[in-house]
Amino acid sequence: MTSTAPKATNIVWHEASVDRVARAEQRGHRSAILWFTGLSGSGKSTLANAVNAALFQRGLATYVLDGDNIRHGLCKDLGFSDADREENIRRIGEVAKLFLDSGVIVLTAFVSPFRADRDKARALVADGDFIEIHCAADLSVCESRDPKGLYAKARSGAIKEFTGISSPYEAPENPELKVNTGDQDLDASVDTVIKALEERGVIPAR
Ligand code: ADX
Repeated sequence: MTSTAPKATNIVWHEASVDRVARAEQRGHRSAILWFTGLSGSGKSTLANAVNAALFQRGLATYVLDGDNIRHGLCKDLGFSDADREENIRRIGEVAKLFLDSGVIVLTAFVSPFRADRDKARALVADGDFIEIHCAADLSVCESRDPKGLYAKARSGAIKEFTGISSPYEAPENPELKVNTGDQDLDASVDTVIKALEERGVIPAR
């Protein structure tokens, strides 16, 4: 893995004149990180995008960071070794933290298979700002969906280190929310997430 130890010296933190509290006041809602994790094909991106649309419709400031998309740019130098996944999630944790500070509700949709990496992202922010949402769908369901044909390639050996097949997935032990994306329909899953956000005071209740 590339070293993440600080390289530069003579760097001084600059306090922003507009802070998160001021942004929340102006926008009328607080920010948060909604961290969706789950196997490929478990419905993370689908659910994150649908929740995003529901929040947007309510006039809230939101943004989705999606694994496949981010790997086209910010993380295009990374593959799927354990070390590269760790670095991928480290970067996303830092980016999500910036979004949090900017007053935006940021939804991240990454496999993020390793508990320790997710916990590091969680530790970057204050308690209550990181809401881990486990998109819980059995491997057999994800594999039968195989929306991108990747499981078939992983089974044939054409893709190495594929999560669930030849690379581990460590399910969250204590996520803020576990959504049954295996057989629950999308609208019901969106409702589950929205209700949890209302209950936690992340978004105003209706
Ligand atoms: S993570 O493990 O580093 O969090 P990330 O969410 O960015 O993964 O990317 C996963 C996406 O890349 C999957 O949805 C899938 O489409 C694709 N992909 C390609 N190769 C792999 C692989 N070996 N393991 C998992 N996903 C892969």
